[in-house]
Amino acid sequence: MTRGGLILAVESSCDETGIALVEDGRRIHSNVVASQVAMHAAAGGIVPEVAARAHLRWIVPVLDEAWAAAGVTWDDVSAVAVTEGPGLAGSLLVGINFAKTLAYVHGKPLVPVNHLEGHLYAAWLADEAREVPEPLFPVVALIVSGGHTFLVEMRDHLAYRLLGETVDDAAGEAFDKVGRLLGLPYPGGPEIMRAAAGATRHDVVFPRAWLGDSFDFSFSGLKTAARRTIAAETGGTGTSAGDSPLANDRVAELADGFQESVVDVLVTKTIRAARAAGARSVVLGGGVAANRVLRDRLAAAAQAAGMPLVVPRPALCTDNGAMIGAAAAWRFEAGTRAGLDLDAKPSLPLARR
Ligand code: KG4
Ligand code: ZN
Repeated sequence: MTRGGLILAVESSCDETGIALVEDGRRIHSNVVASQVAMHAAAGGIVPEVAARAHLRWIVPVLDEAWAAAGVTWDDVSAVAVTEGPGLAGSLLVGINFAKTLAYVHGKPLVPVNHLEGHLYAAWLADEAREVPEPLFPVVALIVSGGHTFLVEMRDHLAYRLLGETVDDAAGEAFDKVGRLLGLPYPGGPEIMRAAAGATRHDVVFPRAWLGDSFDFSFSGLKTAARRTIAAETGGTGTSAGDSPLANDRVAELADGFQESVVDVLVTKTIRAARAAGARSVVLGGGVAANRVLRDRLAAAAQAAGMPLVVPRPALCTDNGAMIGAAAAWRFEAGTRAGLDLDAKPSLPLARR
């Protein structure tokens, strides 16, 4: 079966401008990402207007580079896909209008894609560097990003049942906030991972929010506990990026304690949900899936439970165009199309319970 053929996919929902050419939802011909991370680091977070302007600045050069790297032409393309939501309205608008214009000018169908579906479908992308099997249904997937944290069951392509979600902060958001409390640069996720890797003692234990048998998550209590501990140890002065009164060793231990708490809850609930659903594969996606400790811990737990983990390489876990092309292949086959009136949907949900 053909799965959409060659799709040109555009992602601009947050702070990465991504364009990819993906064949049959699996083979990446090119995948170019212009990241604004360095630009937003100075402000300690994303400034929406600044993000939208940067997408405007970079989207054409990113497209040029995607074509140059792919060695294909417009004649080979079956559709243009774009993230319609969820995300920042201004950022989404840039990608949507760009994709609409490309589809119109080149006479190609336009396929709208849910950003979260993109994170899920990143697990279907092939990897040149290593053999990755396709996930087998039923799939239980954990998606952990800067804006979302949820567990979803997939019994077939494009068929989702929400098992649980965060009731407060997303996991990535918690990493970013605690990173800031520790005086680490933005974004906190990768910085906490790096700092924690240097911990020689592992005796900082932060609380875990189990929420009974539920598959929901909560990270606000953990964040508060981390804030209290850090305030107590710094005499309540707090910290700012690059200027922490905490010794490096202590930052490493606190980062390790925080990361252990997040990973413990994510792994335990995911395996419990996968068992309950009779899953044949466990999928991990979203920016926080770039975290090595989470990847290793979930892989080991899934293996022990007899359900292999499928997790894309880190560059495909954080926002990129290829993941949108992967989901678009199945959307295209299912007949999903958008007209030139496609609008940004900042709070588009993926699934219901
Ligand atoms: O999926 P993503 O690129 O953008 C959203 O859709 O939100 O996720 C970004 C989030 C940020 O919160 C960032 O700190 C987190 O993913 N992140 C990580 C790591 N790399 C990125 N969190 C923990 N460990 C990492 N290595
Ligand atoms: Zn994302």
